[in-house]
Amino acid sequence: MKKNEKVEILIEDMRYSNLGVGYLEGREVKIKNALLGQVVEASLSKVKSKTAKGKVNKVVKRADYEIEAKCEHYNECGGCSRQTVPIEKQLELKNNMVKDLFKRNEISYEEFEPIEKSPIEYYYRNKMEYSFGDESFGGELNLGMHKKGHFYDVVNTINCTIASEDSNKIHKLVLDFARNSGKAKYHIKRHIGYFRHLSVRKGFNTGEILVGIVTTTQEDVNYDELVKDMLNLELDGKIVGILRIKNDGWGDVVAGEYDILFGRDYYYEEILGLKFKVSFYSFFQTNPLGAEVLYSVVKEYLGDAKDKKIMELFSGTGTIGQIISENSKEVFGVELINDAVEMANENAKLNNITNCHFIQGDLFKEVDKLEFKPDTIIVDPPRYGIPNKAFKKILDFNVNEIVYVSCNPQGLMDNLKLANEMGYKVTKVRCIDMFPHTPHVETVVKLKLAL
Ligand SMILES: C[S@@+](CC[C@H](N)C(=O)[O-])C[C@H]1O[C@@H](n2cnc3c(N)ncnc32)[C@H](O)[C@@H]1O
Repeated sequence: MKKNEKVEILIEDMRYSNLGVGYLEGREVKIKNALLGQVVEASLSKVKSKTAKGKVNKVVKRADYEIEAKCEHYNECGGCSRQTVPIEKQLELKNNMVKDLFKRNEISYEEFEPIEKSPIEYYYRNKMEYSFGDESFGGELNLGMHKKGHFYDVVNTINCTIASEDSNKIHKLVLDFARNSGKAKYHIKRHIGYFRHLSVRKGFNTGEILVGIVTTTQEDVNYDELVKDMLNLELDGKIVGILRIKNDGWGDVVAGEYDILFGRDYYYEEILGLKFKVSFYSFFQTNPLGAEVLYSVVKEYLGDAKDKKIMELFSGTGTIGQIISENSKEVFGVELINDAVEMANENAKLNNITNCHFIQGDLFKEVDKLEFKPDTIIVDPPRYGIPNKAFKKILDFNVNEIVYVSCNPQGLMDNLKLANEMGYKVTKVRCIDMFPHTPHVETVVKLKLAL
């Protein structure tokens, strides 16, 4: 076997993250996006004495459990790679993948509980960020998700099956508007052009929709017609705000100051009976019905904490803290984004909760400066995880119990190893399928300080 060679291989195992594993010539070969039971033709990108890595060129034989993808964009779009896997099998693969990580990292647990389903399988996302681009270099203006395996090319995913159907309608309208305007997409490398992104957010339990169109300031367009047409769309929900965001920066992200073209720059969502005001840039779990399941598991893992002071780290808009507040003596939350902190405190007032307080802080830099003395800690870090240097400072609070919510199982393992070294044992683990049809999974872990 050598680099760039094409091989045909049966996938016999799966590993985090989204790797199919086969065995050839005494080597373990890891192939991104290949599924258990498939036979794939792969190009090898790395070959070592005992291992190799490769990427799928084509699926030679599908796994016997595979079905037709529901989404018409599946073959082109880089969005959901598990559309051909029946949902029960997706759950099994995710659960096994996380269990396998515990085993490989030699982290033991008392109980690994069955994975929880998302309450809805399709149209579950409350936030979509679409990119403007072209289907291939120099082609017509497109708006949607990046093409499978391509960094620049964009597919018009107007019938996406994980975005809300309202989001799909708004997507189509903005695509037509942008094409008719005659303005070009923003060219990332040359830094010229106009249209950059479209962001659509929706409160599932309130129906409120917030739309942001991101452009450069190199040109200008009159949005009056678009606003009128958008407000006239037949939607399940109701548009409460339309923003025009100005981004002349280098980063390919939704960012920048904005003008409000219509309504307001926030929407409301209701989760487990509480109301949350969510500003345009605040984090909010992308599967809100799944979030109700997730937060219920956190509440269950926390148990009766009526006499306990809880510290919620990476608190976002303060959802977890407020949901567990009725069960706790006091909740103190810390979050990086000031906007989200303001929302969290405002939300607590809105919900008549008086024992929750949120502050702004960078937990990677200043955990040790926090003066709050918690009895229990809840952490819910971003996908890039918590560096162990910062996690050690969290463990230094020496609380008896920690509830850890993670959307990055590998990062979780790194932290759990350290927690084990510092005397904590894992009592319970439960996965929640917050992201059906993708390889991603949320994991909740309860840690106890061993006596
Ligand atoms: C997965 S979200 C959790 C939010 C909240 N628990 C929820 O469920 O809505 C992670 C949060 O961590 C915040 N964050 C990222 N880096 C941080 C840092 N260095 N210090 C504090 N918060 C940070 C993000 O802004 C985001 O709100």
